[in-house]
Amino acid sequence: MILVTGGAGFIGSNFVLDWLAQSDEPVVNLDCLTYAGNLTNLASLAGDPRHLFVQGDIADTALWTRLLSTHQPRAVLNFAAESHVDRSILGPEAFVQTNIVGSFAMLEAVRAYWKALPEPQAAAFRLLHVSTDEVYGSLAASDPAFTETHRYEPNSPYSASKAASDHLVRAYHHTYGLPVLTTNCSNNYGPYHFPEKLIPLMIVNALAGKPLPVYGDGMQIRDWLYVKDHCSAIRRVLEVGRLGETYNVGGWNEKPNIEIVHTVCTLLDELRPKADGTGYATQITTVTDRPGHDRRYAIDASKIERELGWRPAETFDTGIRKTVEWYLAHADWVAQVQSGAYRDWVSANYAERDTNTTGVISA
Ligand code: NAD
Ligand code: DAU
Repeated sequence: MILVTGGAGFIGSNFVLDWLAQSDEPVVNLDCLTYAGNLTNLASLAGDPRHLFVQGDIADTALWTRLLSTHQPRAVLNFAAESHVDRSILGPEAFVQTNIVGSFAMLEAVRAYWKALPEPQAAAFRLLHVSTDEVYGSLAASDPAFTETHRYEPNSPYSASKAASDHLVRAYHHTYGLPVLTTNCSNNYGPYHFPEKLIPLMIVNALAGKPLPVYGDGMQIRDWLYVKDHCSAIRRVLEVGRLGETYNVGGWNEKPNIEIVHTVCTLLDELRPKADGTGYATQITTVTDRPGHDRRYAIDASKIERELGWRPAETFDTGIRKTVEWYLAHADWVAQVQSGAYRDWVSANYAERDTNTTGVISA
């Protein structure tokens, strides 16, 4: 079996669902269920003996030791993290605790487990650490895309904490020989994306008739990847990735934020036109920029294609249409996450921002 951390979050739950749709190999899913962990994402696995959910913290060494010795996984995949940049700006401590201290606890427990494994199992064992392109910092418009050898220049508490965890993972390979793999992926989007992140926030706010808050001039660039493609890349790296290597994962799909927002509005105009005949783009509003906002990320994903034969299956056009359709078909999921902690978070993040213009910004 495999052990996945953070499997109730956005990417982790997509990964668990895809894994069990393609294989009968069981999954132990360790997640402490922060505001971002949502077990309804995994409702289709209720009663499925291949999925064992364990509510717990990745910083809990005793829990790790118990889980590893009980279940004897052939691999550990680490998705668990605090993942939202804006939250890391308002409160970095949880990011240091989970992303650094939690990753360290995982590494120590996994190292002890792996060292005690008999030879064939030790040789086959893998620890796959899921990381981000944000560790590389920000690119100027004319810079080449990030390769795996780009220097680390994290700019937010979130990316600094992810960079620290990447360094620890690397060190455990070099120092102890732990069989690790690291993936550095660009911005994901798709089903079960918590509506604090750009794309789901825009869909949910648009449908609710609320403003669509674009930070600064909206010309920051991200490279977008459909989440199922990220999951297929991780499966590929797990099976055939070279030990100790890092693999950049991306969609070859750079777009400025304002273009993303307009695309969402156009799809909603087509799929759920407003009764009053106006377009959703009339709800676009610019708000104060994110402090230290990285201007551009771009992933060069040629290593994973060349060495492991992975390429994304979705284009942005197909992936974003599927995503908007999924949110339209899952209003119940949206309503469920729009309670409690989520509502508190939205008011904390946006109340302090000045609205400096209202209206449509062109792409
Ligand atoms: P998410 O915030 O949606 O989910 C994180 C999950 O981790 C949640 O289920 C949460 O409950 C769990 N978790 C948090 N702290 C924990 C702890 N201490 N112990 C156990 N569980 C804990 O995040 P996501 O967007 O699904 O990201 C998953 C991973 O992928 C993260 O490591 C993130 O850095 C990385 N990543 C994300 C993206 C993206 O675009 N979302 C892109 C590249 C890499
Ligand atoms: O690049 C990979 C990273 O992508 C992951 O490591 C992170 O976990 C994930 O959250 C994501 O980080 P971003 O900061 O790029 O994603 P977010 O959806 O928060 O923002 C995307 C862009 O949209 C960014 O330039 C900020 C902008 N934005 C975001 C929000 C929430 C807005 O303009 N308005 C908003 O309301």
